[in-house]
Amino acid sequence: MKYAIQLQNQTLYGEAGECLLETLRREGVAPDAPCGGKGTCGKCKVTVNGQEVLACQTIVDRDMTLERPAAIAASILSVGTDISISADDNIMGNLIAIDLGTTTMVCFLLDKTGVELAVASALNPQGVYGADVITRIQAALDGKQEEMCTCVREGLSKLIAEVCKKALVSTGSIQRIALVANPCMQQLLMDISPKNLAKVPFSPILTETKTIPAVSIFPICTNAEFLIVPDLSGYVGADTMGCIISTEMYKKETITLMVDIGTNGEMVMGNRDHMIASSTAAGPALEGANIRLGMRGSVGAIDHVTWKDGRPKVHVIGDTKAVGICGSGLIDAVAVMLKNGIINQRGRIQSAQTQFEGERAFLLTEDIYLTQNDIRQVQLAKGAIAAGIELMAKQLGIKLTDIDEVLLAGAFGSFIDPKSACTIGLLPPILLPRIRAVGNAAGSGAKLLAVSKEQQALSDKLVKEIEFLELASVPDFQRTFGKQTNFPKEAL
Ligand code: FES
Repeated sequence: MKYAIQLQNQTLYGEAGECLLETLRREGVAPDAPCGGKGTCGKCKVTVNGQEVLACQTIVDRDMTLERPAAIAASILSVGTDISISADDNIMGNLIAIDLGTTTMVCFLLDKTGVELAVASALNPQGVYGADVITRIQAALDGKQEEMCTCVREGLSKLIAEVCKKALVSTGSIQRIALVANPCMQQLLMDISPKNLAKVPFSPILTETKTIPAVSIFPICTNAEFLIVPDLSGYVGADTMGCIISTEMYKKETITLMVDIGTNGEMVMGNRDHMIASSTAAGPALEGANIRLGMRGSVGAIDHVTWKDGRPKVHVIGDTKAVGICGSGLIDAVAVMLKNGIINQRGRIQSAQTQFEGERAFLLTEDIYLTQNDIRQVQLAKGAIAAGIELMAKQLGIKLTDIDEVLLAGAFGSFIDPKSACTIGLLPPILLPRIRAVGNAAGSGAKLLAVSKEQQALSDKLVKEIEFLELASVPDFQRTFGKQTNFPKEAL
């Protein structure tokens, strides 16, 4: 039996007894579901017959009139690090470079010389299956692999068609597609079960450069080859390889720390003689996902917080009323709370002005607040990253002061205030003057890999040379992590 679901001027049909989120996913109109439908994140709210409910906790058992918040356009970072691209001479057609992230995806169209002709981006449509990699893996293992594969292939096909349309070229003119992604995103795109990523030792499957006909993934690309870029480990993927290649950190004599913070935190440290890669389960807190009033960096999000006249002063994207807080705002907010004694070094809110469901909370605006648990989530995320940095330096046999440059890759790295990140100890305070954002370095790496066989051979070489440090197996990890969840004594 089916029920009719009226959504604006569209009628959808849901199977009696199924979860409303399932129906909306099938129809391609689902809200974000960061917790994957467990009912814990509260982000899948819709209005059914005038009443606000969680779509993932609502059974289709009657005809419904549905309203859902208008899709929020997130600002997606496409601009990468400054690189000079020199394409192979024998390229005859156009090229596509894709950065497929857990949250966002960016597609670049290049001509045969490597010049960018067009760019398009969108949210990863798999967001309706969960915000982070672990929730997506679980969804795939729970029988959703095929639909997750289909939705991301369709989403990327749309982007490819869009860039071709913008540049007035045909999809048949594409000769090669190079895609970088984390191992989970890569495997789901290739319809490979991510079960290897669910258990120790989290071995990667795609470990060498390979090409296959692109048409098997994107039917509109009839003449292209699809380049599989190797993963460094189960949780450090081809996207990190893209960052290493585009930042050229593998060439330098001096020590570089490259940090890409997204739903996971990937880090690479070292120089041309020895490089170590690692990843931490930073969790989606820094993308706003498990923060009570957290949201993506889009209109209505508090993206920066300062302190003025004894109270927080917020900046809201789009200069509208604040409806939530995104990662960069969160880091700033915690930094000002720490500097002004609102929270102590252990993260405890000292002077709560309000409570939320029994939790201490601090108001940033009249109605946007951070709870004690929100602060705890930031501590866990920053503790994981800071512990990773400390242990990687130990493994390399260097002091933090030996790090010559800190490169922040990705959207988060571009939007956060380095001083706030150092104030809360997410990054070592001593390295503040050496921090530089490098934009979408993974996307820049994808471009280099699309245009050059030499770069492809380089990725095969680097994947063998770079040491992977499994942080959880380092005996000192728990102690270091516990220590790093505290905030630094001296606020900057
Ligand atoms: S509460 Fe419904 S997806 Fe998280």
